[in-house]
Amino acid sequence: MTHQIKSLDEYKAAYQRSVDDPEAFWAEQAETFHWRKKWDKVLDWNFSEPNVNWFVNGKLNITENCLDRHLETRGDQVAILFEPNDPDADNITYTYKELHAEVCKVANAMKANGIEKGDRVCFYMPMVPELAIGVLACARIGAVHSVVFAGFSAQALADRIKDASCKAVICSDYNVRGAKNIPVKKVVDEALKMDTDSIELVLVHKNTGGDVDMSDSRAKWWHEEVDGQSTECEAEEMDSEDMLFILYTSGSTGKPKGVVHTCGGYMVYTAYSFKNVFQYEEGDIYWCTADIGWITGHSYIVYGPLLSGATTVMFEGVPTYPDAGRFWQVCEKLKVNQFYTAPTAIRALMAQGDQYVDKYDLSSIKVMGSVGEPINEEAWEWYYEKIGKKKAPIVDTWWQTETGGIMIGGLGEHSPMKPAHAGYPLPGIQPCLMDADGNELEGNDVEGLLCVKYPWPSILRTTYGDHERCRQTYFSAFKDLYFTGDGARRDKDGMYRIIGRVDDVINVSGHRMGTAEVENAINEHELVVESAVVGYPHDIKGQGIYAYIITAHPVDDEEAFRKELINVVKEEIGPIAKPDKIQIVSGLPKTRSGKIMRRILRKVASGDTSNLGDTSTLLNPGVVDEIKDNALVK
Ligand code: PRX
Repeated sequence: MTHQIKSLDEYKAAYQRSVDDPEAFWAEQAETFHWRKKWDKVLDWNFSEPNVNWFVNGKLNITENCLDRHLETRGDQVAILFEPNDPDADNITYTYKELHAEVCKVANAMKANGIEKGDRVCFYMPMVPELAIGVLACARIGAVHSVVFAGFSAQALADRIKDASCKAVICSDYNVRGAKNIPVKKVVDEALKMDTDSIELVLVHKNTGGDVDMSDSRAKWWHEEVDGQSTECEAEEMDSEDMLFILYTSGSTGKPKGVVHTCGGYMVYTAYSFKNVFQYEEGDIYWCTADIGWITGHSYIVYGPLLSGATTVMFEGVPTYPDAGRFWQVCEKLKVNQFYTAPTAIRALMAQGDQYVDKYDLSSIKVMGSVGEPINEEAWEWYYEKIGKKKAPIVDTWWQTETGGIMIGGLGEHSPMKPAHAGYPLPGIQPCLMDADGNELEGNDVEGLLCVKYPWPSILRTTYGDHERCRQTYFSAFKDLYFTGDGARRDKDGMYRIIGRVDDVINVSGHRMGTAEVENAINEHELVVESAVVGYPHDIKGQGIYAYIITAHPVDDEEAFRKELINVVKEEIGPIAKPDKIQIVSGLPKTRSGKIMRRILRKVASGDTSNLGDTSTLLNPGVVDEIKDNALVK
């Protein structure tokens, strides 16, 4: 089993070793897994192409490490503990033995339907155990999973299917979340009309049993294909650097890109970080409230916990159904030991009042995690006092889809804590801060652009189908460094505080979005001539979406127009991207070279118009006063 750090001194020693001799350090961690064939070389890398290979020529299958390896020692222990949306419904559990059997059955069903090693399989499913099972079944046979969050629109789903030329899409009939019953298969049907010819199989899991159209010749029922399959499926032998999955994420330009993670390094790093950050002990109940549609769900609901032989909770519902006490009711009922959620959820629940917390016994909680966006001090204090009762430490974990695993964050109770600070880097992670001119900022009490100097096992390998984009986006800003896109401060104690994105990426309720992506969606409306989207501070969401719009002619009914715009965004991307504020303007502040001055738009959107800086160089300085006067946030 992966090594676990048990004190601050041990952390310091491990960190030092990981910097002095990274290869020996990671080889030691990798040794704790089952490999079909050991690697010839630990690491081969350069950041200029980039080309990063971990555990070179090692052979393995990650599911043998998630499942088979545990059968003897903990076959009857619960692996997945499913909490349905309906609070009165019974929990569904899969022991490691049962999960192994189910994964094998689904893997066999996929093979019987022509899915082979290297094929891409798209998942568009709610948070039900079959999603985790399906993902593992892909990994079992060497197919590459590409999970698309089930809140994305048909258009967004189609874009992702096309980009990866997926051979199959696996979905549910419906998705029940809170009081809503969302027709998932219908969205897939729409996507299938959008040039998604690569799809040969649509496998439909019956979740609610509601009506669905199965007339497409490619559509098959999950249960009909899976029931009766053998509970044994020989795992495909994979190279360390074979692709494990693609996960799409937004950047500052263009369409979302498919971040590629590979088998060996991702396995080693997610297990190592899981065990250490959450200080998971045998028999603990661990709950991460994320959705498997995001990286947090991949690494810390599915892979990290199962690699560690943990019991991982999967929750189908939402934090506010049937009321704002749901998280805490579940924590009490399941006796959750490690709880991992996002600041936006904490802020939303905090706003509902303490009465939803006070009636539950939360004494089982030993470690509480935060992820996805900076956690403000007020939310941090509330989480620490009300949920953790000032006993359970908070691990504020900074990382990204591209990093595969947690990069900066506490290790359970073994690290010092400071509200709103992620803290120290994990062993193996060498962060640095740069100024805009490419100089490294040495010492403490400095603020700059957050980069990483040295590869870690779960760093992204490429962006699917476009390696140059990967190089450009992450490895070209600073020579021989991975650039994160975040700004950060290293305080007087050397602890990191993440300030936020320095590019045109916004973080809305922990969901990452490119402003250009939202603008492209808005521009689909026939009346829109041009638009500019910025983030603005939002009490619950962290950031809200503020859109400035130029229309072709004056709009009679502004309210109706706003609704139409929101609908266009919902159709193009999904409800998570809908603008909170829409301001119609006659022009956008532009430099003489035609670049939109977003700095001004951000300031106005944040309600701070006191000092907009020098606007005299603008092509159209007059427009600034108009924008200011009609601002929707004052
Ligand atoms: O800006 C950082 C923010 O989320 C971005 C990564 O988003 P995504 O790839 O969707 O992954 C989210 C889950 C790992 C980062 O560039 N972010 C993530 N965690 C934190 C954070 N900002 C501050 N504090 C965090 N703990």
